[in-house]
Amino acid sequence: MQNAADLIWMNGEFVAWGDAKVHVLSHGLHYGTGVFEGIRAYDTPRGTGIFRHTDHLRRLYDSAKLYYMPIPFSQEELRAATHELITRNGLRSCYIRPIAFRGNGPMGLFPLDCPVDVAIAVWEWGAYLGDEGKQRGIRAKVSSWRRISPDSLQPAAKATGQYLNSVLAKIESHKAGYEEAILLDDVGHVCEGTGENIFVVKDGRIATPPATASILGGINRASVIQIARDLGYELAERDIARSELYLADEVFVTGTAAELTPVREVDDHPVGAGEPGPVTRSVASEFEDALHGRSERYADWLDIVHVAAPAT
Ligand SMILES: Cc1ncc(COP(=O)(O)O)c(C=O)c1O
Repeated sequence: MQNAADLIWMNGEFVAWGDAKVHVLSHGLHYGTGVFEGIRAYDTPRGTGIFRHTDHLRRLYDSAKLYYMPIPFSQEELRAATHELITRNGLRSCYIRPIAFRGNGPMGLFPLDCPVDVAIAVWEWGAYLGDEGKQRGIRAKVSSWRRISPDSLQPAAKATGQYLNSVLAKIESHKAGYEEAILLDDVGHVCEGTGENIFVVKDGRIATPPATASILGGINRASVIQIARDLGYELAERDIARSELYLADEVFVTGTAAELTPVREVDDHPVGAGEPGPVTRSVASEFEDALHGRSERYADWLDIVHVAAPAT
């Protein structure tokens, strides 16, 4: 992944990869009290472009708010630090992982007297569900684990402890020989993947679960909704029954790590013809153009990396 020559930004300092350490008694390590983001930067004709950077940073601060965690830096400070980190690490494209967590302080469940530590790491990361998966589609399994429900946690937050739910579903699907799990929500409607939102296509119409279905409000989900509507597709945010997955013409998932990945099989039912269909292909092509800076229309979704010259 990374090597000792790389830098990580921690609490306002650039530190060597090997020195980016936290105390073993950090609150976040014991109780999952952290919030984070996954962001990608692409090598575009205009320079390195961070996809929807401010939207990701806003979600980081929203996640922190949901857990009563004031981040001791402004969004603009984290944005500038990320630009400098990418530049100093000499990367043209990368995955970006900002994290804020409760650090070393009083032990016990009450977190508000623990400091909030903040770090940003960047590294090169290829297709999360595999290059072949992006081209041909992946095989998915409906998980026996339900997505965390809003009466016990905060589905709208991207919080570290919450990912134990995704981890269980991921392990289960992996051991069963599938590339990804699809979780249902607490009432049995389709919710999302372990790290992706989900879309189904039937008779040319697209549907995706609504915010009230315990999803994480994906930045790529929002982008794909806009692209699909701009392309003229009818797209509904509505409850989706499990059987709709099996009877769909097309299914695809979206997320920062997975980008847009088609699903070619769910629970051993081929989806449509068992290969990515025409709606998926047309939305994916427009989306890829937006990510890689080839789209005029969505040009302002990219935050081009600029580093302010040092004061003389
Ligand atoms: C549980 C979960 N759902 C959905 C998503 C997709 O969100 P985004 O498109 O903002 O990456 C992610 C990834 O961050 C996730 O972890």
